[in-house]
Amino acid sequence: MSQQAPLNKPWDTLWLNARLATMCRGDTPYGLIEDAAIAIRDGKIVWLGATDDLPNEQRRTCQQQLDCQGQLITPGLIDCHTHLVYGGNRASEFEMRLNGASYQQIARSGGGILSTVNATRDSSEAALFESARMRLQSFLNEGVTTVEIKSGYGLDLDNELKMLRVARALGEKLPVQVVTTFLGAHATAPEYQGADDEFISFICESVLPAATAAGLVDAVDAFCENIAFNAEQVERVFKAAKSFDLPIKLHAEQLSDQQGAVLAARMGALSVDHIEFLSPDDVAVIAEHGTVAVLLPGAFYFLRETQLPPIDALRENAVPIAIASDSNPGSSPVSSLLLMLSMACTLFKLTPEESLAGVTRNAAKALGLQAEIGTLEVGKTANMVLWNTSNPAELSYSIGHNPCNTVMYRGQVR
Ligand code: NIG
Ligand code: FE
Repeated sequence: MSQQAPLNKPWDTLWLNARLATMCRGDTPYGLIEDAAIAIRDGKIVWLGATDDLPNEQRRTCQQQLDCQGQLITPGLIDCHTHLVYGGNRASEFEMRLNGASYQQIARSGGGILSTVNATRDSSEAALFESARMRLQSFLNEGVTTVEIKSGYGLDLDNELKMLRVARALGEKLPVQVVTTFLGAHATAPEYQGADDEFISFICESVLPAATAAGLVDAVDAFCENIAFNAEQVERVFKAAKSFDLPIKLHAEQLSDQQGAVLAARMGALSVDHIEFLSPDDVAVIAEHGTVAVLLPGAFYFLRETQLPPIDALRENAVPIAIASDSNPGSSPVSSLLLMLSMACTLFKLTPEESLAGVTRNAAKALGLQAEIGTLEVGKTANMVLWNTSNPAELSYSIGHNPCNTVMYRGQVR
């Protein structure tokens, strides 16, 4: 007997009289549909269009209806680059920087990422979960329905797996989709100082295989930088990722041009992230491979960077641009994705429409999830946000004001 639901099965939820920013229709800014309705069944979007065009029968039989009173609905927001799980914080290093030390100097003298590695190793799984849960809650309050979380503050077998388990647990306990990224090649572990190549072998041959076998890895990242790993070492990590069929992405050209972004794109990376020092001449290579440029205005701001990412070249080459928080203790102690929209506009001169695409459609692509989330389209997962405004530009414009009204996650009001 067929298990299929009858075609006329009533819709679960119907939101009416909304302004829909679908983020996918080319004919209007933000893919806007005015006086619109959107219908949900079994956690998916099953209908959307003008309220006047609603099929009568379905409108009559849908039990749960919400009048949106002309307010805006967007796709659920996606933060496609975070380091949300970590121990301690780096407020004292912030103070050191304001007294004259540079981010690189602090890193070279054993602080920086390694100080967070020590604090993370010293933290229990429960403590890591609790501190990350509080940060994550701030993102959820602003309409985030998907978040990527990286490892990279453990740098040994037990602690990398511990971080990834915490990330997975956050996705199981909270109403949010968590995508995990293995960032074992974030910095050389304290016990491998002076032996970077041996450390990369350890990451590729021991830690990544174990994390993958435990089902904890959705993608693999690395930090390509003069204070971290060179392109050759990154290539070894990517080859290991590919042997497990895992997608790759890269922290590239954040502080200097290491030719990491070009390497990552040629190897089929989902995204290259930061890229302030990416040469405009290399952007064509990023475009050619369909790689997403993930811009991280929080780190740009917090490190008082002055070198801008090659925005004009990204636009000219039609590279999809995503925006993310990079939430981490050292370079972006940020717990607001809406603030990143504001910063993307003021610091990088993105338009509010580009910024919103950066945390919806293009962020989904940066995670390889564009078939499921990121736009309002029939067949996609019903992740969406109703805002206390009808103007999408307001999401980028306000600073410190949260206009989030109601969030739907996988078809359920959160
Ligand atoms: O994305 N760039 C490398 N990793 C992080 C910062 C890590 C840290 O300072 O703890 C980033 O900026
Ligand atoms: Fe990062």
